[in-house]
Amino acid sequence: MTLYGVGLGPGRADLVTVRGKQILQRADVVYTPGRLSRSVAAEHVPDARISGLSFPMTRDEDELRTAWKKAAAEIAPRAREDSVAFVTLGDPNVYSTFGHLRRTLDAFHSVEIEIVPGVSAVTAFTTALGIEITAGSSLALREAAGGVAPSGPDRMVLFKVTDAPSTHEGLIESGYDVVYGRRLFMESGDTVVTDDPHAVDGRDYYTLAYAEKRGIDDESPTAAFEGADTHGTDLAERSHNE
Ligand SMILES: C[S@@+](CC[C@H](N)C(=O)[O-])C[C@H]1O[C@@H](n2cnc3c(N)ncnc32)[C@H](O)[C@@H]1O
Repeated sequence: MTLYGVGLGPGRADLVTVRGKQILQRADVVYTPGRLSRSVAAEHVPDARISGLSFPMTRDEDELRTAWKKAAAEIAPRAREDSVAFVTLGDPNVYSTFGHLRRTLDAFHSVEIEIVPGVSAVTAFTTALGIEITAGSSLALREAAGGVAPSGPDRMVLFKVTDAPSTHEGLIESGYDVVYGRRLFMESGDTVVTDDPHAVDGRDYYTLAYAEKRGIDDESPTAAFEGADTHGTDLAERSHNE
């Protein structure tokens, strides 16, 4: 049979794809790697078919490898007999825990794997923050855990923003405007969209930032249609206006 890696989207049950929902409903068992993914999966699958897996919140590589080997050893025999799903928030192939599982299964087990893409925070943030990434622009993904402030490209989505005030200071110094999004399209917890880093200074793993170099030009052919209202407004104002 098959192991399906199913992307659940950013956290709202109605942002699971139709295909994702069908796979979850057909699966004999649905493995969930955390509380949040479990609560989204539970909107589509009876609790009795959900099996929680726990992973240590650590950067210790030995500990992580041990946990993934244990998870793979539990999932592999089941996936050879039955239809099995492993869910992740967002998309399974974007900055995701699913990659660890896939690599571990590839190395130690023989299991057929199929992936069902999900709505990633990489795309959901635009709607939530009221931002358009115009055709032709480049956008980089980065991590900004622990107050790190990466720089380089004109537009960046920063994941794992755990110390927004420190990250903010560095980004402003490097010439970026920044907007933060917390728990976007999530049913649990409060959604926050703000340009004030102190409004998101309490640590919450589900926090991202969008940074855009001040003064970059929108070269799309219809940019000139923007009236006196919005022309020349900065990123923070634009996200407030949406
Ligand atoms: C390990 S990455 C997982 C990304 C996921 N696979 C995806 O495609 O969206 C986790 C980071 O994504 C960001 N993130 C994911 N979902 C989010 C949401 N609904 N709201 C805000 N940030 C989110 C946060 O920065 C979080 O630290």
